[in-house]
Amino acid sequence: MALQNFEFCNPTRIVFGKETIQKLNDLIPATAKVLIIIGGGSVRKNGTLSEVETALGKRQFAVFEGIEPNPTFETSMKAVEKIRKENFDFLLGVGGGSVMDATKFITGAVHYKGDTWEIVTHGGKNITQVLPFGFVPTLPATGSEMNCGGVISRRATNDKLPIMNSLLYPLFSIIDPTKTYSLPEKQVANGIADAFVHVIEQYLTYPINAAVQDRFSEGLLLTLIEDGHKTLKNPTDYESRANFIWAATMALNGLIGAGVPQDWATHMIGHELTILYGIDHGRTLSILLPSLMNEMRKDKHGKLVQYGRRVWGLQGNDEEKIIDEAIDKTRAFFESLGIKTYLKEYDVDSSAVEKVVEQLRRHHLTALGEKGNITLEVSRRIVEASL
Ligand code: NZQ
Ligand code: ZN
Repeated sequence: MALQNFEFCNPTRIVFGKETIQKLNDLIPATAKVLIIIGGGSVRKNGTLSEVETALGKRQFAVFEGIEPNPTFETSMKAVEKIRKENFDFLLGVGGGSVMDATKFITGAVHYKGDTWEIVTHGGKNITQVLPFGFVPTLPATGSEMNCGGVISRRATNDKLPIMNSLLYPLFSIIDPTKTYSLPEKQVANGIADAFVHVIEQYLTYPINAAVQDRFSEGLLLTLIEDGHKTLKNPTDYESRANFIWAATMALNGLIGAGVPQDWATHMIGHELTILYGIDHGRTLSILLPSLMNEMRKDKHGKLVQYGRRVWGLQGNDEEKIIDEAIDKTRAFFESLGIKTYLKEYDVDSSAVEKVVEQLRRHHLTALGEKGNITLEVSRRIVEASL
């Protein structure tokens, strides 16, 4: 076993640190007509938007407000219409993963000929032209600030589906950790869990002797555990917040996923829980992951043992015991962030099982996981074990 063949190119410029928003002035052309895209107003309240506006100086700009958590096709299309009508030529997403993902869809949709929902049903593959865009992220979690993916929901049809296209790497992301201090504790916890599971999806598969990716992944997991707890306890401690943010970005920028098998079943099943029950993304992952680890313990045996030993410091020769303990430690970690890890704690009962399976069937998600062997029957057992 060895690394699979791969190509790796991440073109996004990262500008990281305190008081960096002013650098927008160097990164956006002086003649650009900028549409700033924001969520429900958190960036107005915490001062990020006014810093952005100041940095834009004499450039023409307007603000599109109202991208919701789990951004919708419906709202994003309103921004597309505004851009088409008023000829904006640069998009700047200022906010969390939802704002960033919506901006990616919007930039791909502006010049799309035909029914723009097709962009989502084709997973973003049919995007051929985008407007230049950059981000000022305010929530460490998704990695959207340095990757080419996004997730778009459509309320009318109960769909939440990923898009991906190499045109969707932002030109830049300016990450000022102090702009995340205003996050409610719940969102910080969600972010830590999301980033943790991003690493797991690319690491906890089967061993191929990808030494660099494995050690990087274990380093990110350990950082998320250590600095995650610190930043939750002391949200304005710059040191731990900076480490958490950079770990979240590195968790899903393509580096640890290059040349290795990847899972993503927890995410795909989790998306169905979000669209059906409105449970936050990071929480759906915390609910499902321990059950998925247990269900797939034979396929993932080697990596589960490695994870238990290297990340949780478990010892001994009884590998089944190490796996049991590693799963318990994972659940306990999510709980220590204040995240409940059973569906019943979100008022979701056993009728969810059939509903989730039906959604997966409808979305053709019938062969998930690194080996494609998470069939609907296996997904059913994973959701049942998460009740
Ligand atoms: O809407 P506003 O008012 O801005 O408030 C937001 C929102 O209510 C608030 N917030 C953000 N920054 C803040 C803040 N509040 C105070 N201070 C700040 N600095 O936080 C709430 C949640 O924001 P949201 O953007 O929805 O959260 P997150 O960053 O966790 O993004 C979740 C979305 O990203 C997708 C998820 O599926 C979900 O739709 N994902 C995107 C990925 C990607 N692009 O690669 C991968 C992930 O696996 C994930 O699926
Ligand atoms: Zn995620």
